[in-house]
Amino acid sequence: MRKEVKANERSWNLLAKDHYETFKKRLSENNQILNPLIIQELGDIKGKTLMHLQCNTGADTLSLARLGAKVFGVDLAPDNIVYAQKLFSDFSTEGQFYTADLMSFGEHHDQQYDVVFTSEGAIIWLPDFKIWAQTIRKLLKDDGFVYINDMHPFFLMLDENQLSNGIFAYKYPYFNRQMDKEETIGGYAAKERPGECYAWMYSMSDIINALIDAGLQIEYIHEFDDLCYDLGNMTKLPSGQYYYPAWKGKIPFMFSIKATIKK
Ligand SMILES: C[S@@+](CC[C@H](N)C(=O)[O-])C[C@H]1O[C@@H](n2cnc3c(N)ncnc32)[C@H](O)[C@@H]1O
Repeated sequence: MRKEVKANERSWNLLAKDHYETFKKRLSENNQILNPLIIQELGDIKGKTLMHLQCNTGADTLSLARLGAKVFGVDLAPDNIVYAQKLFSDFSTEGQFYTADLMSFGEHHDQQYDVVFTSEGAIIWLPDFKIWAQTIRKLLKDDGFVYINDMHPFFLMLDENQLSNGIFAYKYPYFNRQMDKEETIGGYAAKERPGECYAWMYSMSDIINALIDAGLQIEYIHEFDDLCYDLGNMTKLPSGQYYYPAWKGKIPFMFSIKATIKK
């Protein structure tokens, strides 16, 4: 395992208990915590086998199980998987989980699925999109599909603090495959804890070409002007997404892709 991925593993472990507690509360209060748009785009997944990549502590995996899928999840951080299993046991739900670095998971996992799913802050943690896309291809049954819903790279290059002040300024070059080191992962659903972590910026073409090169065919790509978490001072939509009125219709914050195996 790359030393940067090992550092990420340590830092994600530190957040696992908080994530479990936050999401258990949300799942006790709401039957569904998945973004309604994701539910709509996924379509009917009842009875389908679904592999959730980078499943964290299994909260979205549990929502996917509540939609009727037979769910599986994989994540880098062992503590995330311990808490994902606990979460599923708390809600008496069936699910199977694996601890693995996605950069090598495909080498030793031979099961295939109807759906491969990944969402909301996942792919920035991956150093190699070619391996990621080839792994997706390997995990998919011939008539299966992958659904990806993640941060738009255009948004990722911007200075978040300036955006919230109504100022459009970029912080990272768009064409930047360099590694970015931070001293904390931040706290989207956990107390912020110090922990070295590494992320890799991507462009839309990095993602799309990696999928195409792995033998997948893009069914659609959608872009959205709202975000799955609050950057501060954002307005909450009934869907649970957040937006800045000043930037509505102007900046893509998220994207989704559905792809199938090229016939
Ligand atoms: C922002 S979270 C994903 C959140 C996701 N939307 C969910 O269902 O909760 C990113 C996840 O990616 C995992 N991760 C990071 N690098 C990974 C890797 N190389 N292989 C597998 N999982 C990884 C982390 O442990 C973390 O749980």
